[in-house]
Amino acid sequence: MRKFKIETWGCQMNEYDSQKMAGILKSYGFEETQNDEEAEIFILNTCSGREKAAHKIFTRVGVIRKNLGKDKIVGITGCVASHEAEQLFKKIPKLNFVLGTRSVHLIAKAVKTALEGKRFCDTSDHPESIEISPDLVDRQKKVKAYVSIIEGCDNFCTYCVVPYTRGRERSRPVEDIVEEIKVAVNKYGIKEVELLGQNVNSYNYNGKTFKDVLIEVDKIKELKRIRFLTSHPKDFNEELVKVIASSERICKYIHLPMQSGSNKILKLMGRKYTREEYLEKIDMLRSYIPDAVISSDFIVAFPGEEEEDFLLTMDAIQKVQYDNIFSFKYSPRPKTAALRLKENVVSKKIADKRLIILQKYQEKVQEIKHKNMEGKVYEVLVESVSKRNKTRLTGRTEGNHVVNFEAGRGEDLIGKFVKVKITSSTFTSLKGILV
Ligand code: SAH
Ligand code: SF4
Ligand code: F3S
Repeated sequence: MRKFKIETWGCQMNEYDSQKMAGILKSYGFEETQNDEEAEIFILNTCSGREKAAHKIFTRVGVIRKNLGKDKIVGITGCVASHEAEQLFKKIPKLNFVLGTRSVHLIAKAVKTALEGKRFCDTSDHPESIEISPDLVDRQKKVKAYVSIIEGCDNFCTYCVVPYTRGRERSRPVEDIVEEIKVAVNKYGIKEVELLGQNVNSYNYNGKTFKDVLIEVDKIKELKRIRFLTSHPKDFNEELVKVIASSERICKYIHLPMQSGSNKILKLMGRKYTREEYLEKIDMLRSYIPDAVISSDFIVAFPGEEEEDFLLTMDAIQKVQYDNIFSFKYSPRPKTAALRLKENVVSKKIADKRLIILQKYQEKVQEIKHKNMEGKVYEVLVESVSKRNKTRLTGRTEGNHVVNFEAGRGEDLIGKFVKVKITSSTFTSLKGILV
C-alpha cells in the first residue's frame, strides 16, 4: 500500500480539510503514516495568514527533497496553494501538485496524476468541495469533530488573505451539518463538536441563521459539548447570547477577536465596529453569562498605529480581562488592501516592543485567573496521553483551558469526560489530579 503523510499548518479549517483529504485517500486504498521515511507522498496543508507561516513551507519542501530523497511526491494544499497557484511551480521546481482550498475533494486525482509522473494544479472554486460525504471525513482517534458550517469570507478586513484564499462566503444546509455530526457521533463516538467558519455569525441558508444552526445541533442528544469559531464582533448579538446562555451543552467560551482598541485603526482595518460597540457587547455577554470564558486576537503595529492607538488597545485589554489572547505583529500580505494604505509603517523595533508589552500584561492576567482555578474541580474531556508517562493525561475544560493531570491510568480515558481538581498553575498551564 502506498503511504501518505499530511502536515497541517494554520487554523482549524485546515485541520478539518486535512481530515477530509486523509479520509478520501484512505477510501482509495492509500495508507496514512506519521513517519517521514515511510511516506511516499507528502501533503503540506499550508497557511498564508502571516508571512512567516507561508515561508515555513519552502523550508519544509527543501528538507524533504534534501534528506528524504528525490522520488518523494510533494504537494502543496491549503491557503498558500490557493493564494499562489501555478506560481508555486516556479518557486519550487520539483513540486508535484498544487491543490486549492476549494478543490480538496480532488486530492486522490492530484496524487494519482503525480504518481504517473505528471504535474497537477487545481485552485479553482468548486462548489462541491464543501460537500464531501460525511463518511469520508477521517475522524479516527479524534475526540472532537470539526464541522464547517460556512466557508469563505466576505469581510475583506484590509490585512487579511482569507477572502482571497477561501473565496466568497458559502453556507451549508443545516440538514447536511446535522447529518455530518451524527456520523461523527455514531461512527466514532465523538461527544464534542466545533462548528467552523471564518465568521459563523454571518451564516445564512434559506433564511436560517447561526442561531438556528445552534438550536438544531443542540438537539443531537449524544453530544456533550458544542463550540464554534469564529464570531465576528460586528455580527455578535443578544439573540445569539440568549441561545448560548440557555443551552446546557453550548460551551460558555467565546472567541471574539477585537484586533485593535483604537477606532482609527479599526477603521483602517475595515473591521466595521468601534471600540465602544465591542466593549458593550462584552458587557452584554457577561450580563447573561457572568463567568463566560472570553478570548481574542490582536494585531499590533498595523500601519498608522501611533503610541496613543496602542495605549487604547492596552486599555481595552485591561477593561475586558481576557482569559486568553492570540497576539500578532502586523504582517503585510500580498493582494490585501492594507498594502495600499498611505499611513506610516511602524518600525520593527516598536512593533516588537508593543507585542512584548501586550503579552507581558496578558501573562499576569492569566496567572491570576489560573490561580483562581486552583483547588476547584472541572469537567475535562480527555484528549491525549503523555508520550513519556502513560498515566499523565491532557484534556480541556468547557472554557477551553488545557489541563495536564495525573490519572493513575491512561489510554482508556481518551475521549471520556472526567473530573479533575486543579492543583497548581502557571500563566500558560494548569496541572491537576483525577478525582
Ligand atoms: N476569521 C477570523 C480570523 C482568521 S485569521 C476573524 O475574523 O477573527 C486569525 C487571526 O490572524 C486574525 O484574527 C488576526 O488577528 C491574525 N491575522 C490575520 N491576518 C494577519 C496579518 N496580515 N498580520 C498579522 N496578523 C494577522
Ligand atoms: Fe479575515 Fe476579516 Fe474574514 Fe476574519 S473576518 S477571515 S480577519 S477578512
Ligand atoms: Fe486558516 Fe491560515 Fe488559511 S489561518 S484560513 S489556514 S490563511
